[in-house]
Amino acid sequence: MKRIFMSSMLTLLMFAMPVIGVAESRTKLPDTKAPVIMLNGAETVTIKVGDSYVDAGAKAMDDVDGDITGRLRIVSTLDAAHPGMYAVAYNVNDSAGNAAKAVYRFIKVVEAQPDSKARPEARPEAKPEAKPEAKPEAKPEAKPEAKPEAKPEARVDTIPPVIKLNGDSSVHINVGDTYVDRGARAWDNVDGNISRRIRVSGQVDTSRAGTYMISYNVSDKAGNAAVRISRFVSVVFVPDTTPPVITLNGDDSVTIIEGERYIDAGAKATDDVDGDISAGIQRTGLVNMAEAGNYTLKYDVSDTAGNAATTRMRIVKVVDRGDPDAGRQLAMKKCKTCHNLDSTKNKFGPGLKGIFNQRAGRVAGFRYGSTLGVGGWKWDKANLRVWLSQSSRDAVRQLSGDSDALTKMKFKGVSGADLDNLIVFLKGN
Ligand code: HEC
Repeated sequence: MKRIFMSSMLTLLMFAMPVIGVAESRTKLPDTKAPVIMLNGAETVTIKVGDSYVDAGAKAMDDVDGDITGRLRIVSTLDAAHPGMYAVAYNVNDSAGNAAKAVYRFIKVVEAQPDSKARPEARPEAKPEAKPEAKPEAKPEAKPEAKPEAKPEARVDTIPPVIKLNGDSSVHINVGDTYVDRGARAWDNVDGNISRRIRVSGQVDTSRAGTYMISYNVSDKAGNAAVRISRFVSVVFVPDTTPPVITLNGDDSVTIIEGERYIDAGAKATDDVDGDISAGIQRTGLVNMAEAGNYTLKYDVSDTAGNAATTRMRIVKVVDRGDPDAGRQLAMKKCKTCHNLDSTKNKFGPGLKGIFNQRAGRVAGFRYGSTLGVGGWKWDKANLRVWLSQSSRDAVRQLSGDSDALTKMKFKGVSGADLDNLIVFLKGN
């Protein structure tokens, strides 16, 4: 339904905006033209009870698909064993799903030896009775009333009622849609409106694609049956080609400070057919909360028809804890006496320019103590934290794993924000 609606909207737009229409004329227009069915042979055929019936068939042509006779759906109500009026219906869809207007052939099955005149109708008794009644002191009005009433009663009604469909004789719905039949109405020459007495047969299974027939029949009080009429309901399967849509909860760029806990806000996914499929979202990518950097998380989902949503992404920026400027100020006070901060020239201690992520004990020309001279670890954040958070003696023992280790650096350590600031300063220095 949605699709058909879309394509008709498109057609409408093309007509509404001729200027754009010209510019876009190379794009393929959706096929909205229905195929046409033509009957082979007569529209009404009469056969005798018990005769075999071979249907002459029909042809179906489509502007895009060409000859689609082979795809005709034919439904017949014929029961050649019993006299009556029957119908054969022909219907077809083109490959774009456009349905033709259904075409019908009516088959009249008659008695093999019609002996309808064998039984003469009973003579109406109304007339002789009517006369003596009219005699005694009848009011002048009684006479004209009695006559016309008596006559029709005397005749036998042989004219059948007529049924007309409400709505189209061919209806198309999508699998899963709700089908509400619009019914039919019936009139009889004697009984008048007998719509309420119409018998409806047939069912539509909207969960399965196929063509279903609903038939309507009615008889008048005299027992004359109308020509049965039918409606064809085509339940078509429209493939789901619309992908779901993912919406991120929260911002698509999130900043957290190193060491903070990152809790992802997740995402929602909705699909035109499947509805809420948020639970099926696959998130890929990891956030290392212990290390500054930009991390990308990806969110993907597909609907049950296999249509994949456009991947949504979130960037999680993990930033360093601490303030490098405050760290430099602290270093000027606490480290500058023994270290050059802006060069690798050695003082009492080695030059600290670019020390971050270098191996310990590797600054050229500096005479390290025995432990640092051997080195063995890298000045990353974790090791700098150990080095600067306590007395240098305890620190060198912890880093080397040697309880007798010694260092030439004499420092009692800093803590809290000072430690964060110093480390982030060294990282960027
Ligand atoms: C009293 C002088 C002194 C002070 C103050 C001092 N250091 Fe040192 N630092 C040294 C010496 C000496 C060494 C070499 C230690 C060894 O060889 O055992 C050293 C080594 C280091 C190293 C290892 C370098 C390498 O090449 O492996 C780092 C890092 C360091 N200091 C950072 C600091 C920071 C940051 C501060 C200020 C918060 C600081 N130091 C304060 C004297 C000092």
